[in-house]
Amino acid sequence: MTINEDKIVELLNPESRIVVLTGAGVSAESGIPTFRDAQQGLWAEYDPEEMASMAGFRKDPKLVLEWYDWRRHQIMRASPNRAHTILAEWSHRLPLMTLITQNVDGLHQKAGSRDTIEMHGSIHRLVCLDKRHQAPWPSPLGEPPTCQLCGSLLRPDVVWFGEMLDRKVLANIDSALERCQLFIAIGTSGLVYPAAGFLERAKGYGAFTVVINKERMPKGTADLQLEGLASEILERINGLMPPTPVR
Ligand code: OAD
Repeated sequence: MTINEDKIVELLNPESRIVVLTGAGVSAESGIPTFRDAQQGLWAEYDPEEMASMAGFRKDPKLVLEWYDWRRHQIMRASPNRAHTILAEWSHRLPLMTLITQNVDGLHQKAGSRDTIEMHGSIHRLVCLDKRHQAPWPSPLGEPPTCQLCGSLLRPDVVWFGEMLDRKVLANIDSALERCQLFIAIGTSGLVYPAAGFLERAKGYGAFTVVINKERMPKGTADLQLEGLASEILERINGLMPPTPVR
């Protein structure tokens, strides 16, 4: 164990205020494509402007809904991997941990994580354009569905490029970052704001910062960079933690 690994293990305790931020890399080992992988990433094949913006949706709602419905079915067949289950265990073992995910797949919840903040929404719900009424996906999808309460068009309940995050969600994230002592970013390219700014902010508040990624990340300001698959690195760190006391 290096001095810095010692530090992360020391901080992974029930009294520490911990923020874990996850990105698409955490779900990659469950068979869900990431966005920016050069070959298999979704944005290598599809245009984010077309699929993940209000302008794209207005232009062709059917295409966008079909694309999300295709991804949703792929996600429904997927199971959480060891990275998800370790984080779920931590969320119970470490009561002051806040888990924030940019993923819309719901796999943290499926793994049993407590109180996950889904900052980019959820692919499993629709929401109406006018009043933000939530609705389930019709099955089969058919023509673009409309809201049963107000008649406006339904869209996936996810955050698209150019859109603001929910205010309450942002407020919860702010308060978690302000008090954070350990910040861990896992499987995210760190290119999409506001999530991309969380590490710097946590560091500014005095947190020890860690990046876990299968690729070497550009030399940033993280105190510790751990290169490898999310499941393997988390398994290793988990193995270094003291066993939970029996009550
Ligand atoms: P990206 O696709 O941008 O980045 C995924 C990161 O995970 C990359 O840095 C990979 O190196 C890393 N990675 C892949 N497999 C891994 C593994 N098994 N273990 C560890 N790391 C691995 O995904 P995000 O950063 O999540 O937003 O993307 C952020 C946002 O951009 C998404 O929420 C989405 C996207 O466009 C919207 O659609 C609004």
